[in-house]
Amino acid sequence: AAAELGPYRHYMQKEIFEQPRAIGDTLQDVDAIVPALFGEGAEQVFKEIDNVLILACGTSYYAGMTARYWIESIAKIPVNVEIASEYRYRDSVPNPKSLVVTISQSGETADTLAALKHARSLGMENTLTICNVASSAMVRECKLNYITRAGVEVGVASTKAFTTQLVGLFMLTMCLAKVKGNLTAEKEESYLKQLRHLPAAITATLALEPQVMAWADRFVPKENALFLGRGMHYPIALEGALKLKEISYIHAEAYPAGELKHGPLALVTDAMPVVVIAPNDELLEKLKSNMQEVHARGGELYVFADADTQIVNSDNIHVIRMPEHYGKLSPILHTVTLQLLSYHTAVSRGTDVDKPRNLAKSVTVE
Ligand code: G6P
Repeated sequence: AAAELGPYRHYMQKEIFEQPRAIGDTLQDVDAIVPALFGEGAEQVFKEIDNVLILACGTSYYAGMTARYWIESIAKIPVNVEIASEYRYRDSVPNPKSLVVTISQSGETADTLAALKHARSLGMENTLTICNVASSAMVRECKLNYITRAGVEVGVASTKAFTTQLVGLFMLTMCLAKVKGNLTAEKEESYLKQLRHLPAAITATLALEPQVMAWADRFVPKENALFLGRGMHYPIALEGALKLKEISYIHAEAYPAGELKHGPLALVTDAMPVVVIAPNDELLEKLKSNMQEVHARGGELYVFADADTQIVNSDNIHVIRMPEHYGKLSPILHTVTLQLLSYHTAVSRGTDVDKPRNLAKSVTVE
């Protein structure tokens, strides 16, 4: 195992650093945005459907939540995202014009498979999976698929599987947009260029590791943390909080920053670190006033800020500057720094990072 780990201390760290490769591989066969990337018959299916229903669990569910922002904004198709174990047991109104999308690293998660079968039993036959294992039950059960090429993921806490899922979901977004006539050639070209530049952008983000490690030391004695994000970065805040819980055992919660005043602000004291995802987007000014609300109550802010956000280090405001603002794909870069934060916090707390207590890599029973 030591040889396999190379210079890394844990599989999780190795897998975080493998992301440029994993994403490059996931995009390997992509020359243009064509439905055939999702399998035979995809074009017909994409033409027929008028909404998307995403089903998944855990980290994969947060990939689905992120995709909802992309699909509605770029492809202009309504999207529902649901936790598989909830969907399978509730009375829902089936829509035969739904594209049912399951997201799963393993392709064997019992709840997600059961949710898929439930959707089919309700007459929804247009099924597609974003999956990391080509030989899995999920791929066999779905009409269409996009196989991510993260490679084997050993760490229980998902890292490279998540970011490659996001890449697959962005491909799906572009493809749906194209089939529905909502993607100009210009946009297609610029999104493709941005996708291809991702490995380099992630490599630049990974270089922030020493700065993130310094923050991690300050998280070690904490028992609680809040993560804030807005818009398509809200699911990334959720994923950041999940990662911290899973491997460091620090209780963490994520909130869309605008919701702070409706409850969690009561928790903010000088003992509460608040992690903020601060992309340079149209919500930046609103986010800054949310940060002010925390600062005024003595909360300590840890801000991952894009260049040009004008957010600077000061008393109780710690800033790590992200290398570049990455437009629609920004959630992928902001994921990487949050992975590093939870990883180094957990290492310093001395937990079993690759095999956190009570958790399994793949949950194949209910
Ligand atoms: C388990 C793993 C998570 C994963 C979830 C869904 O809980 O610990 O990391 O996100 O299952 O797994 P899947 O293989 O369906 O993506």
